[in-house]
Amino acid sequence: MARFSVAYASSEGRTRLVVDHLADALRAQGHQVTVDDVGTPNAAEAVALADAVVLAGSIHGGRLQPRLVRFASAHGVALSEHPSALMIVSMSAASSDATVRERQHEYLASFLAATPWRPDVVEFVAGALRPDTLGPLRRSQAARVARHVGVDPKGEVDFTDWGSVKRFAESLARWFPRVGVPIRAPGRQEPN
Ligand SMILES: Cc1cc2nc3c(=O)[nH]c(=O)nc-3n(C[C@H](O)[C@H](O)[C@H](O)COP(=O)(O)O)c2cc1C
Repeated sequence: MARFSVAYASSEGRTRLVVDHLADALRAQGHQVTVDDVGTPNAAEAVALADAVVLAGSIHGGRLQPRLVRFASAHGVALSEHPSALMIVSMSAASSDATVRERQHEYLASFLAATPWRPDVVEFVAGALRPDTLGPLRRSQAARVARHVGVDPKGEVDFTDWGSVKRFAESLARWFPRVGVPIRAPGRQEPN
């Protein structure tokens, strides 16, 4: 069993739901999981104590939450000591247009430019839009995003593929096949 720390930022609640599913799936694989908002004092401590870390956030106005970027920058060294993953939730991930989907890589590039942390794996997750829950300004921003993605700007849409969140969790769980000893994470160099 390994200890996973999942630290997230969520503006309308979808990323929170995603990390809850991820955590449940990791627990089902026998791992111990803490889930903390990056804005809470527990998050840094949980990262320091963990065997592996997942950071997750969502895209608004073309970028991840600034508090997630601050957290990754402040704890970049601790994060880099563990096998680690980043999950990016957005509507671009849901688009059938390859040019729009390509924006996810721009969001990732901006994030990486702003923090020293280099996650071993990155997972892009399609999110949801619920215009009725937003104030007027955010609703009009969300409507623009919906038009870009090619969905009804007034209606509620939900593109999260929960099966794929579960499969991602299972792939992370395989970092620790038995007793909490990490095997080589994808992209990670073997020590000499
Ligand atoms: C005001 C607003 C702006 C958004 N801007 C973008 C954007 O620039 N690109 C994108 O792909 N998705 C964008 N989205 C979609 C969100 O990433 C999506 O709704 C996600 O599920 C939100 O996750 P959260 O509830 O955890 O914050 C935007 C959503 C809102 C409400």
